[in-house]
Amino acid sequence: MLDEIKEIERKALEELAQASTESELDLWRTRYLGRKGAFTQVLRGLGTLPKEERPAVGKAANEAKVRLEGAYKARLEEVKQAELQKAIASEAVDVTLPGRPQEIGRLHPSTQTLREIVDIFAHMGFQVYDAPDVETDEYNFQLLNIPPHHPARAMQDTFYTTDPGVLLRTHTSPGQIRVMREFAPEPIRVVLPGKCFRYEQVTARSEFMFHQVEGLVVGKNITMADLKGTIVNFVRQMFGPGRKLRFRNSYFPFVEPGVEVDMDCILCGGKGCRVCKYTGWLEIMGAGMVHPVVLKNGGYDPEVYSGFAFGMGPERIHMLKHRIDDIRFYFSNDVRFLSQM
Ligand code: PHE
Repeated sequence: MLDEIKEIERKALEELAQASTESELDLWRTRYLGRKGAFTQVLRGLGTLPKEERPAVGKAANEAKVRLEGAYKARLEEVKQAELQKAIASEAVDVTLPGRPQEIGRLHPSTQTLREIVDIFAHMGFQVYDAPDVETDEYNFQLLNIPPHHPARAMQDTFYTTDPGVLLRTHTSPGQIRVMREFAPEPIRVVLPGKCFRYEQVTARSEFMFHQVEGLVVGKNITMADLKGTIVNFVRQMFGPGRKLRFRNSYFPFVEPGVEVDMDCILCGGKGCRVCKYTGWLEIMGAGMVHPVVLKNGGYDPEVYSGFAFGMGPERIHMLKHRIDDIRFYFSNDVRFLSQM
């Protein structure tokens, strides 16, 4: 019997050393120290022993039990400590790691260019006027000297709305009429940046939505020389000094005379290349002296007042400046393109 007790104790200690979680320890405790555990069995069996052996066996069993209880408590403490250490290690935060940077947005290249253009004109004393994107046929065409059935309408395929006479502006020029009607007979020096829409096949060269910056100056004794000086100054600041400019005779119903402004090709310097279609020149805007009919529609007496206007596309300007050969990059939302700008 005494050997049996020794053997149970030895086995119990061996298993205890192996138990590495609190639940394993729990099982161990029921197995050896519980009411149905190994020692309870031994103590219960005492009655079957000869009387003189009972005290020695009982004592040995009780002592072994006390030792095992002590060993159990010590092991439990060890296991708890180990589990705590493990939890601490797994939940640890390394405050020395580099942070995860927040992705921040940036301005769209069209917005950047619009702002750049507006900035340059602001330094020449121009103010910004905000005109609506949704216009009437009257403002977009008629008051700009483009009556119904005028062939010039065919150049600008239009998005019409279901409201008769209401459309998406095809250019920023209707804003000219709005500024003039608001400020006549005061002198005017404004730029009008904004979106324009044309019902067009989308290609590398044309989008159905794009931006324009319109310029309008009205006053007494405004001449073509003022127009040229303003444009030359703008181009110098936008594209750097030394650019050559050419004012080529052209037609827009709302200006007379009308011009298209060409700049020497920034790629080949005028020698001729694919970008300038071997002409050496790049068209950068339309311009001209405000047509007397348009001045009158705006509330100015064309006998007393004169003015000039221009219109340019910031996407086109940005394309020339950064040698982008497809306007579709701007509005197809490919961040690989947008984030480079
Ligand atoms: N509105 C014209 C266009 O969209 C550009 C322009 C503006 C031409 C002002 C002359 C004067 O093509």
